[in-house]
Amino acid sequence: MKITIFGSGYVGLVTGTCLADVGHEVVCVDVDADKITRLNRGEVPIYEPGLESMIRDNREAGRLRFTTDAESAVHFGMLQFIAVGTPPDEDGSADLKYVLKVAETIGKHMSEYKVVVDKSTVPVGTADKVHEVLERTLEARGAEIDFDVCSNPEFLKEGAAIEDFTKGARIIIGTDSEAVRRGMRECYAPYNRNHEKLMFMDMRSAELTKYAANAMLATKISFINEISNLAEHLGADAEHVRHGIGSDPRIGYHFIYPGCGYGGSCFPKDVQALGQTATEIGYEAQLLEAVEAVNLRQKTKLFDKLDQAFDRDLEGKTIALWGLAFKPNTDDMREAPSRELMEALWKRGAKVQAFDPEAAEECRRIYGERDDLILATRRNDTLEGADALVICTEWKAFRTVDFDHLQRTLRTPVVVDGRNLFDPQSVKSAGLLYYAMGRGDSL
Ligand code: UGA
Repeated sequence: MKITIFGSGYVGLVTGTCLADVGHEVVCVDVDADKITRLNRGEVPIYEPGLESMIRDNREAGRLRFTTDAESAVHFGMLQFIAVGTPPDEDGSADLKYVLKVAETIGKHMSEYKVVVDKSTVPVGTADKVHEVLERTLEARGAEIDFDVCSNPEFLKEGAAIEDFTKGARIIIGTDSEAVRRGMRECYAPYNRNHEKLMFMDMRSAELTKYAANAMLATKISFINEISNLAEHLGADAEHVRHGIGSDPRIGYHFIYPGCGYGGSCFPKDVQALGQTATEIGYEAQLLEAVEAVNLRQKTKLFDKLDQAFDRDLEGKTIALWGLAFKPNTDDMREAPSRELMEALWKRGAKVQAFDPEAAEECRRIYGERDDLILATRRNDTLEGADALVICTEWKAFRTVDFDHLQRTLRTPVVVDGRNLFDPQSVKSAGLLYYAMGRGDSL
């Protein structure tokens, strides 16, 4: 099939590349000329395991192209995916200007039947808006061309996006058109071989499914973080509680890891956007508000623990920080707990010596060069002259630590573990003060 993808960001690149990889002909179009030039040189602007080689192979095979030429891209595919960004507006609602701009572009240039596919995460009712914009644009041209709009939300996790695309649990398609059903069946046939993954529904249900999935996962995280905070006060261990409740298949072990709060480009934004949608229709989404509030509080906990460990005297202290990315296997620092911590430390006159296997460059891009931030190239370099260690991200490379060496190196033996990586007894028996999340005697 011939497929056009608008937006060469995270979702667009993964979608386009995976569809090319199963034999479709794909053109990816973006307004950012610099990005397209880089992609055409084989440089991938994001870190996603396996993506770079997949892009290279499919470009070489002639199935994947990158362009800024929107007009020819509209003519190219029968399926026109919209995978551009929906940044949050000031009130937390998703800003649709890029999505609607693409709809207008398609309307301006199309000369035959097209299926316009909403892939971006967009509020319920957006597919109808896209439909309206297309209709208006065609009318303004005096063109009578048939088209359909459908909703096909993505469920990709950063760091596992290719696996999620190719082996995802479901493919949601919101449409009331038989032609769309046929087109999408053909498009996704290579991924729909072992069992039926395609789920057809109306557009609004498809749009809400995406938000509901992320809101449910965010709820699980805020729930366990709430229990973890209770455990701290009650002298219980949240890790035992996690095992205990996870064994019930109705609850399950996934997404109930206590931590320093969820981050990334999806959960914070989507929970807020769904809450904003609720407000717009006059519904008070009490649970969603609580999920967000619990998460915002959770992100301040690493700082609070350090602050208490040092009797509120952090001025002039040097803090070693492991993990800048919002989760492992990505260089993404959007809404990362590490940022909340660093910014709070800087405000109090402390210095940060940080290490992250992938996100150092991103950190430099966000914060620039500053005296109170050193980005180390090796994990243990952060410990030299440091008063305490804080772990923000559970990278695999942080799981094995020589606690005796840590105890000898840190000026004060304080370890704050935002991801519960270690057995508290092993850390403590090396003479370290260990503050984890929801583990009994934590601060
Ligand atoms: C999330 C969803 O998991 C995807 O299904 C969805 O498609 C995607 O958003 C999206 O809407 O595009 P992602 O943001 O990449 O994916 O990251 P996750 O792996 O879900 O992690 C999100 C955050 O939750 C991280 O900060 C992680 O540390 C935190 N988390 C996760 C916990 O604190 N505890 C847990 O038990 C699980």
